[in-house]
Parts: sequence; C-alpha cells; structure tokens
Amino acid sequence: MSSEEVNKENKLWGGRFTGTTDPLMNLYNASISYDAKMYKEDLEGTRVYTQGLQKLNLLSAKELEAIDAGLTIIEQEWSSNSFKIVENDEDIHTANERRLGEIIGKEISGKVHTGRSRNDQVATDMRLYCYNNLSQKIIPFLKNLISAIIHRGEEEIDVLMPGYTHLQRAQPIRWSHWLSSYATYFAEDLERLEQLTHRLNKSPLGAGALAGHPYGIDREFLAKGLNFNDVIGNSLVAVSDRDFVVEIMFWSSLFMNHISRFAEDLIIYSTAEFGFVQLADAYSTGSSLMPQKKNPDSLELLRGKSGRIFGNMAGFMMSLKGIPSTYNKDMQEDKEPLFDTLLSVEHSILIATGVISTLFIKSENMHKALTMDMLATDLADYLVKKGVPFRETHHISGECVALAENLKLSGIDKLSMDQFVKIDSRFTQDVFEIFNFEQSVEHRDAIGGTAKSAVLAQLNKLKTKV
Ligand code: ARG
Repeated sequence: MSSEEVNKENKLWGGRFTGTTDPLMNLYNASISYDAKMYKEDLEGTRVYTQGLQKLNLLSAKELEAIDAGLTIIEQEWSSNSFKIVENDEDIHTANERRLGEIIGKEISGKVHTGRSRNDQVATDMRLYCYNNLSQKIIPFLKNLISAIIHRGEEEIDVLMPGYTHLQRAQPIRWSHWLSSYATYFAEDLERLEQLTHRLNKSPLGAGALAGHPYGIDREFLAKGLNFNDVIGNSLVAVSDRDFVVEIMFWSSLFMNHISRFAEDLIIYSTAEFGFVQLADAYSTGSSLMPQKKNPDSLELLRGKSGRIFGNMAGFMMSLKGIPSTYNKDMQEDKEPLFDTLLSVEHSILIATGVISTLFIKSENMHKALTMDMLATDLADYLVKKGVPFRETHHISGECVALAENLKLSGIDKLSMDQFVKIDSRFTQDVFEIFNFEQSVEHRDAIGGTAKSAVLAQLNKLKTKV
C-alpha cells in the first residue's frame, strides 16, 4: 500500500490529502495517550447520537442495534485493558470509530459520524468527563474533608491555643475555631464547585463542525440522553467554548491556595518550636541522613502542588487567549493540564482528609503558648466597660504591658494593684479577674467568634452544607 493510500484508508480526514505526514507531526498531533481516559464518555456520546440519527431515519433500527452492540464490546475492551490502539488512532474519537468499523463493518460504522464533527464530539466528551469527575469524586471527597474537620472541631472544642496575626501571638482562640476557619473556606469552595458543575452541564452535541446540524437533529433529545441539563444555544460557542475548563482550573487554583495555607499553618504548628501538633506516621517521612527527623512531606506537597495547579490554569489561559472563533487545534492543549489538575486536586483532598483525621494534637503545648500579654485587649476592654473610650484604654493597656516588660515580670497579671492604679486610677481590684484565657475566649460570643457557643454554631451551620 502506498503512503497516499494509507492516508485515504486510515485517517478520518484523509480524503483530500495526497502527501504523507511527517512521523513527528503524527506524534505531535496525537492526543490518544492522554484523551483515552474519556473512552466511556466518547462511547456514550456515540450511543445517544446514533439514537438521534435513527429518529431522523438516517439509521435503521437494525443498524442502531448493531452499533449499540459494537459500542458495548468496545467498552468492555477498554475496561479490561484489551483495547489495542493502532497507528493512526489519533485520538479517542478516531480510535473508537475505527474499532467500531472492525467489529460491525464500515458499511454501518461509516454512518455514525453523519452530521457530527469531532469538534462537537470532543466538547461533549470533555463536558461529560468533567461533570462525572466532579460529581462522583471531587465534590463527595471535598464534603468528606469538611466533615472530618467539623468532627474534630466538635471533639476538641475545649482546647485553647494562641490565635495569630502577622504570625505573632495575638489573642487566645479555640483550636476548633481554627479548624472551623478552614472548614468555612472549603465550604465556600464546595458551593463554587457545585455552581460551576451545574454550569458546565450543557450539551454541545449536534452543533456539527461549527455551523449547526444539516439534518435537524433533536439536540434536546441528545442532551437528555446524556443527562445534560441544557443545550448550548449557539453552535459556534458549542464547539469552541472551553470556559468550563478554565473555571475548573481557576476553582482548583483557589482551592489549592486555601489548602496551601492550611498546610502551612500545620507545618508551623508541627515544628519543635511550636509543638502544637504531630503528624501521623502515615503522612510523614524520615530523613535519609538525620535519624531524628520526621518531616511533614504530605503538608509540603499540598503546599507545593498549589503552584503547579495555578501554573496549569495560567498556561491554558495563555493557549486560549486570542485564538479566532470556533475550533482551533490549540484547544487540544486543554486536556493535559485539566486532567493533571483534576487528579492532583483529587489526591490533595484525600491526603488533606487523611492528615486532619489522624493528626495528634498537643493541647498542653497550645495552652502553654498562651501568654498574659495576649489579654492586653481584654485589659483595655475592662476599662471600656467602666466608660473609658477605647482609644484611651488601648493606650493605658499598652502602658501596663510596657511596665511589666520593663520590670521583667512574667506577665501583666503580675503587676501590683498599686502599679495598676498608678497608671490609671480607674483600675480596681477586680482587674485581676480578666487574666483568664477561658473567660477571654468565652467573651467573644457574637456570631463567628471564638466562644464555645459561637464555634459550635459555626460547625452546625457548616454541617448543613455537606
Ligand atoms: N483531539 C482533538 C481535540 O482534542 C479532537 C478534535 C479534533 N478536531 C479537529 N477539527 N481536528 O481537540
């Protein structure tokens, strides 16, 4: 067989081509190595599409039956790892159609693509793949992560720790309040993800190459058959819209941003200097040189992968930017970063869930890290309750902190009554009652605060989202 014949024989688009393709071009052009993972969606799309053709009498009932049986065989081959990819199987669409021809004969398989283009086909497969992945994996896994955090938050509600701003000890908070803060971020992430999953669930099928379907296929029927909740209303958009890919990548970038901060907090808390938490062995590794080391690799990878996920988004947006209307091959560049992103996010959620479910906390160290200067605001509030303007009490409290420091006292609570009164005559004996961390935390009982009732209310509200 001459090379010209090979082209005519085996390439979907071979008809008008006479020359051979540079072998490297074949490799450069092929996406089968990474788009084969959409085999199920591709077969399902063809199954429903051919039903649509049959409704138009472009296929007989018998032909449809043969197609259906052939598609089932191909699906079994893929799932049992026995599907053989051959030369010229450029992408998953080409491979499945080629195989269908081998099984049921080209006489029938040659009709399958009537009115369809790989442009609406690949857009359909991608949307189905994303919908399935998000709704079957990422969303339920994310809900599990949030539930695991909530569960810990309830169990360890009595543990106090320092809260930080600028990574400096600021005010005492509940450990559960810290936990709840990340559950809150993740619950917002979940809401955004559910919204975008709904938004992407629209059908491009039946849009043809770009201009629409020449035989008047029932696009609503196709959409319904594939469980889409709507039809994309413009055929040019149907074949070339990859905003859903960008949205997933943006979502993933923001989510990983949250994960990286969560990881960073825990990395800091797990140092000997802090000693607040200890990672389970399952999520740490040792050093090849230093026998004493226990490294928080899981957390470092969570933090590190956030960079890669952002890079995937930035890279693909650059590919998409400025390409002219409808399908251009640049769009094939959506798959590798998208699949990498979905898998990395899936694994990151599972690892984060494992870490937080098995983490050991050292509550006595958290408590030891609470220092009396962290009650300086409470000291200011004490005078506010006596009618002194806050700006003034802030200054007075600062003087108390400075005096205790100058006298090298262990804390402001060690100032004597005389010393307090010397700074401000409105101090009375009951000032010493404020030097109580539990009480300080319990004072902050407005919505969103760190009092037990407020934290439990947060956790209860979060529970309704998962
Ligand atoms: N493999 C291609 C992709 O992923 C399928 C669409 C090909 N369409 C075309 N007109 N060449 O984008």
